[in-house]
Amino acid sequence: MALKIGIISQKGGVGKSTLSRLLAVEYSRNGWEVKIADMDLSQGTVTEWNRIRMENDIEPKIAVEQFMTVKDAIKQDAHYDLLIFDGEPHSTKKTLEIAQACDFMVLPTGVTVDDLMPTIKLAHELKRNGIDRKKIGIALSRVGDSHSELNGAKEYIEEAGYYYLGMLQEKTSIGQAHDSGRAANETAFKSVNQATDQFIQAIVDRMELVKTKA
Ligand SMILES: Nc1ncnc2c1ncn2[C@@H]1O[C@H](COP(=O)(O)OP(=O)(O)OP(=O)(O)O)[C@@H](O)[C@H]1O
Ligand SMILES: [Mg+2]
Repeated sequence: MALKIGIISQKGGVGKSTLSRLLAVEYSRNGWEVKIADMDLSQGTVTEWNRIRMENDIEPKIAVEQFMTVKDAIKQDAHYDLLIFDGEPHSTKKTLEIAQACDFMVLPTGVTVDDLMPTIKLAHELKRNGIDRKKIGIALSRVGDSHSELNGAKEYIEEAGYYYLGMLQEKTSIGQAHDSGRAANETAFKSVNQATDQFIQAIVDRMELVKTKA
């Protein structure tokens, strides 16, 4: 049975597809058979990204497939070690279905209250629907240079009772990496890749801990 990770949010453009690609590359590098279930049929961001990745012959190769329903995606369970669900721009009924099917949920969000508030609202909604709080982690994405803004966002998440997973800084090189079929830890800059690897390792560690305690 595959480990299943859902990347979901209430708002669009907060880094779901960025995280999906990053996790897929990280686990693939470690020898896992990984598939990204692209649940965002309207944009197909990861599907298009993977087309460019294949054209550019980038290793490791990542499997990506678009699915209409969570039930269809789950049928892949036996064939992979890891299924990553890349969610839609807005939280829908499908978002809850993803959460119910997954072992761990990552909710990426921006640092402003405009972004944090709907993120916490979604996390509360998941909990109300029976999702264990421990299975939910919140990550900050596209973070700027302000330490106080970062600390404020971290506090906001923790005061709401959720686990803060870490942060990814806003970098031009990350956007450029995506455009060439690469993930945020495959940029042209070693320092960016190292920081991204640290971020992703913290997420992996948290998931391992939750899994062993389950
Ligand atoms: N840390 C970063 N630095 C620079 N650009 C970033 C970073 N993270 C994400 N981006 C860019 O921001 C945009 C939105 O990110 P992404 O596609 O991951 O969000 P999303 O939540 O999947 O969006 P949607 O809700 O539309 O599916 C993309 O163009 C992506 O390349
Ligand atoms: Mg997306």
